[in-house]
Order: sequence, then C-alpha cells, then structure tokens
Amino acid sequence: MLNNSGNVVNFSVSSVKREELSAIAELEKLCFSEPWSEESLTLLLGDKATGFVATEANGRLVGYVGLVSVLDEGQITNIATHPDYRRKGIGKALMERIFEYCKEKGICYLSLEVRDSNKGAIALYESFGFKTVGIRKNFYRFPVEDARVMTAELN
Ligand SMILES: CC(C)(COP(=O)(O)OP(=O)(O)OC[C@H]1O[C@@H](n2cnc3c(N)ncnc32)[C@H](O)[C@@H]1OP(=O)(O)O)[C@@H](O)C(=O)NCCC(=O)NCCS
Repeated sequence: MLNNSGNVVNFSVSSVKREELSAIAELEKLCFSEPWSEESLTLLLGDKATGFVATEANGRLVGYVGLVSVLDEGQITNIATHPDYRRKGIGKALMERIFEYCKEKGICYLSLEVRDSNKGAIALYESFGFKTVGIRKNFYRFPVEDARVMTAELN
C-alpha cells in the first residue's frame, strides 16, 4: 500500500494502550474541529470503552477507532485516519476489527453519529451495512451542522 507521499504503508491493528492516548489526542486535533482531549480519552478509552489503533511498522500511530458498549449494543465513538494516510484501507481495517470484536462479545446492534456533510465517512459506514435512521438537528458545533444517526445490525 502507498501513502499520500507515495511511500509504502505497512500497518497493524491492535488494542489501545494507555501510553498511546496522547498520540490519539494529537490525531484528534488533526482530524476534528472539536477534538477529544487526552483527559477525555483517558476517561473513555482507559475505562469505559474499547479502542483499536492502526500503527505503521515504524511505530507511528496513524489511525484509531473507539467503541462504547452495553450488553448487545455498541456505539462507535469516533474513527480517524491521519490525513497523510487516508484511502489506504486503514479505516476499513479498523472497522473490520470493531466488527470482529462485536462478534466475539455478542454485540449485534451498532450505532453512530456523523456530520451530514462527511461523505467519506458515510461511504465507509455504508460499506459496512450502516443505514441512516435519523437526523439530530444542529448536533455539531464549529461549524454547526446536523448529525446523521446511522445503525447496523450484525448477524
Ligand atoms: C473517514 C475516515 C476515517 C476514512 O479513513 P480511511 O483510512 O481513509 O478509509 P479507507 O481507506 O479504509 O476507505 C475505505 C472505504 O471508505 C470509503 N471512503 C473513505 N474515504 C472516502 C472519501 N473521502 N470519499 C469517498 N469514499 C470514501 C471508500 O469506499 C473507501 O474504499 P476505497 O478507497 O476502496 O474507495 C477518514 O477520512 C478520516 O479520518 N476522516 C476524518 C475524521 C472523520 O471524519 N471521522 C469520522 C467521524 S464520524
């Protein structure tokens, strides 16, 4: 696989470790107008949620995904790929790992929110069977925008 600079990208997907939370916070800053802080990520991923990271062979963290679950329901909190590494299959690999995890844990219903204009993320989610089931008006800030609520059922 090639990254946007034309270099080969070899990455692996693994569970988030505490020492990776600051790198995830840096990735959040690069990817979102309202990024999660390291403190919030510590509370979330260090405790309540499950997370997976994509790491390049040289150890650089290039993507992550988070999931909160209760019984058989899960919510994808966020997914992000470093801007220099997009369209190389990292988001897909992270989603595949989340689906694998859900199957292991008996989670059969997934939901998420996404900016209505985020066509790339919506295309990724639709490729995993997510469908739009509702709109949350003015859900996001910076800029203000509606959220699509999307859900998927796992067999
Ligand atoms: C959404 C995001 C995580 C996708 O990550 P990625 O590593 O680039 O995704 P992949 O390379 O695995 O793409 C898998 C598929 O998703 C779809 N896709 C991903 N980005 C797309 C884009 N910009 N436009 C259209 N389709 C896109 C395509 O179907 C793609 O397959 P293809 O490349 O074979 O056509 C990434 O664009 C990102 O981090 N965006 C900023 C953060 C964000 O918006 N997260 C979602 C919050 S709800």
